[in-house]
Amino acid sequence: MAIELVWDGKRAAAAEAERASTSIGLPEGNVVVEGDNLEVLRALEDPVDLIYIDPPYNTGNDFTYHDNFAGHEAWLSMMYPRLLLAHRLLKPTGSMLISIDDNELDTLTRLCKEIFSDDRVEVLVWNTEAEGSSGTLKQVRTVRSSHEYVVACHGPQVQWNRIHEALAGREHELQTANLAVNASRERSDHPNYFTITGPHGDEFTRQWKWDRDEIRRLQEEDLLYFGRDGRRQPRRVIPTDHRRTTYLRSILNYGGTTVGRKDFEAVMGREIEFSYPKPIVLLRKLILSASGPEATVLDFFAGTGTTGVAVEAANAEDGGARRFILVQQPEPAGPRAVDAGLPTLAAITRERLARMNVEFSPVYVT
Ligand SMILES: C[S@@+](CC[C@H](N)C(=O)[O-])C[C@H]1O[C@@H](n2cnc3c(N)ncnc32)[C@H](O)[C@@H]1O
Repeated sequence: MAIELVWDGKRAAAAEAERASTSIGLPEGNVVVEGDNLEVLRALEDPVDLIYIDPPYNTGNDFTYHDNFAGHEAWLSMMYPRLLLAHRLLKPTGSMLISIDDNELDTLTRLCKEIFSDDRVEVLVWNTEAEGSSGTLKQVRTVRSSHEYVVACHGPQVQWNRIHEALAGREHELQTANLAVNASRERSDHPNYFTITGPHGDEFTRQWKWDRDEIRRLQEEDLLYFGRDGRRQPRRVIPTDHRRTTYLRSILNYGGTTVGRKDFEAVMGREIEFSYPKPIVLLRKLILSASGPEATVLDFFAGTGTTGVAVEAANAEDGGARRFILVQQPEPAGPRAVDAGLPTLAAITRERLARMNVEFSPVYVT
């Protein structure tokens, strides 16, 4: 047993989890709930398979959302009842993943170990510059910080999936597959029967497995292989990163802070204020790894709704039918968002999902 974490207000915080509530019936399918997550967590009844949350880190900075709690104790008192309720909602096969940085890593990990037990908590490191950095010069005294954490808390029967990953150092190794259909099944009147010209002008007329547009795309992306001498019938190059399956590594090299910002700006423009949305690729990898195709995924600090976008992306990748439940309180948005007709952060959550054609039912809990 870990050393118990004690702070003033711990008992009162735990009592918050026990307060009575009236249950709210959620519709089927994807749901975005506007309301305080404590209220919503008390009211939820159906167990969930995966919880991802990205709570305020307590940096003390002036972000779009409130991120300045009076010290660790106030932050812990905010988190404790929510984590107790989340733990209760989680299936024994499920996991709860929590993004955090150095400000509260220590307190959060100890609290999680208390709730889930010592051996069911793992700390993963997220490389916040995995796809490059913003290049901004920051004043530092020692090292430039380029990582955050994901604290993973597991139910007693957890089993994660293997995911598709590039094989480090072998990404450029050549693997090819047939591009032409089997000669015995070839038909010269088929629309895919046409000529491909090799790099030395050789012509290959066959029925191909893909149509002209796709072949043109492959050729442009240099994914046709005409043999070592460049004169053989073309084959399709299979990039190695589509072949390999592996377990998620404890160092998460996905996206980065700037990628999260770019994902958000791609649909919302540069004006709308929101501090540090997470990159879709990070959450997609976590979801693919930690949940099955039928999972219900809960995020009760939804922000811009990245978890919802990533659930859809995970489904697109593995053919799954996961659904999400997001909770976001109607915290006032920044002045430019207000000008754009988005008065609250919850309005931003809904707007981003709507612009990305992600279907969901909005629910309001007051
Ligand atoms: C760090 S942001 C989450 C960012 C999100 N992961 C993304 O990619 O956009 C934390 C969010 O939690 C929300 N939040 C804070 N306290 C909450 C509460 N009690 N109930 C619901 N949402 C809350 C904040 O308004 C903020 O939008």
